[in-house]
Amino acid sequence: MKKASFQVFDAEPASFSGAALVYMLERSAWQDLQGHSPVLAAALHHLSDCGDLFAKDEQMVWLYPALLDWQGEQPYRVKRILLATFTAADAGYDALREKIRLCAGSIAQQLRGNTGIDGGDVLVLCPRKLLLASDDFAQHLVEGLVLGGYSFQGYKKEEEAEEKKKSGPIRYFLPGGEIAAKELHQNIKQAQIVAQAVCTARDMGNQPANRWTPADFAAYAERIAQEVNKKKKLKATIIDQAEMRTLGMEAILAVSRGSALPPTLSVIEYWSGKKYPTVLLVGKGLTFDSGGISAKPPAGMEDMKFDMCGGAAVMVLMQALAELNMPGVNVVGMVPATENLSGSAAIKPGDVVRHYGGLHAEVVNTDAEGRLILADAIAYGIATYSPDAVIDIATLTGAAVVGLGHHYSCLLANDERLSEHLLKAGQESGEPLWRLPLGPEYRKQLDSTVADIKNAGDRSGGTITAACYLQEFVGTTPWAHVDIAGTAWNFTEKSYVPKGASGTGVRTLVRALANWEKLNRS
Ligand code: BES
Ligand code: MN
Ligand code: ZN
Repeated sequence: MKKASFQVFDAEPASFSGAALVYMLERSAWQDLQGHSPVLAAALHHLSDCGDLFAKDEQMVWLYPALLDWQGEQPYRVKRILLATFTAADAGYDALREKIRLCAGSIAQQLRGNTGIDGGDVLVLCPRKLLLASDDFAQHLVEGLVLGGYSFQGYKKEEEAEEKKKSGPIRYFLPGGEIAAKELHQNIKQAQIVAQAVCTARDMGNQPANRWTPADFAAYAERIAQEVNKKKKLKATIIDQAEMRTLGMEAILAVSRGSALPPTLSVIEYWSGKKYPTVLLVGKGLTFDSGGISAKPPAGMEDMKFDMCGGAAVMVLMQALAELNMPGVNVVGMVPATENLSGSAAIKPGDVVRHYGGLHAEVVNTDAEGRLILADAIAYGIATYSPDAVIDIATLTGAAVVGLGHHYSCLLANDERLSEHLLKAGQESGEPLWRLPLGPEYRKQLDSTVADIKNAGDRSGGTITAACYLQEFVGTTPWAHVDIAGTAWNFTEKSYVPKGASGTGVRTLVRALANWEKLNRS
């Protein structure tokens, strides 16, 4: 995917001579066009009379200035005009943000589907009445344009040829003054960084398991620590197999033993200042989950290449933090990465492993491997960094898909404020979370007769018992667990969320971290 860029356009829209000019039209105020061309206004009224302007949500209509009768008026110089509609009616602020993202996502899709526009210049004109503060509007517009423009470049001959033909990325222009005023450049740039990070997480997830391995996670961590590190705030350390042995991380080692590939544990530190709190983020980086000896059924097993999406989210988030130079919070991101296969050395049901820190676990089901690798990382992270809070994100349980489907991620937490904080961030980001309970009555299902805990209970409350397992390792540290099994791919299809890996969690976590100081004030 080629990266879009954003610039300011300060002149009259009529003088814009790029590939396309986009009018974002809000239903209740669509007549209030910038530029005030009577010819254009007449065309719009005609479309409206035909019922074709707001026939459905995010209706997109193309107009060609060369085909209009300009009746002596100076014709628009642009090749095409795209009318991109949305409806704000009764929407609260979060719903409005989502509508803007959706409309922007549809615009990006229209442009992407039109090969004539590749590499062209596109001016996007926003409604005069912005409905949101302009920085807020700009953020969601840019998010939608970048996320909606995403496509995974796979391994097809034609796709490669298509990609080569393209002349370059789209250059977006936003009108100076209101939406792209000087003070907003920063917001636009930030939104672009975050949306680009989401696209990178999607790329990692969409790669097949033989093209995105534990070693690739480690290499990416080292690369960002070198390349995105102008201010020396980012540091990457890779804990390899030998080091894991020394540290006593027997669980992640055990999960990896069925695979020919060695496991990696990437640790990326982002330090913004001593006086700030430290947050530990842990993302499940299971690059392929066959279930191991407790094998999964074959149907759909190929989707288990996505079992590393939590790890991808944490990885790109660390990059984004450095690019944003985010103040107010220190963050340690950890990505335990391995395959779960069933080679001859594989861990067997009934085996007992010793976690980092000394807790013993009976592995009754080798398919419950995510909690095993997360627990080693969480225990190590807490012992090493004494964080003020821990958040882990993982495609952890099929039960999360059964429970909430593909539209909400599951949230479990031992701390009310942290929970509220994440629920809000998810709501604002269009990545909603739904909280599930925790409690000793569930933890009982993990009582083992031979060890401190076993790694799977019965089928009931599977998402909760998985979280109970992790809770065993967080002690009293405020902690939240986000199960993205239902949302990491096949997430609610939207204009700005394509099929395949969704990159979910990245925007929610960025928002939660950016507002971290609000967490303890409420
Ligand atoms: N990666 C899976 C969870 C998963 C399943 C994610 C389907 C997305 C879609 C995880 O490692 C797993 O296999 N969990 C088991 C746990 C069980 C054996 C206790 C599950 O959910 O079936
Ligand atoms: Mn599994
Ligand atoms: Zn898994």
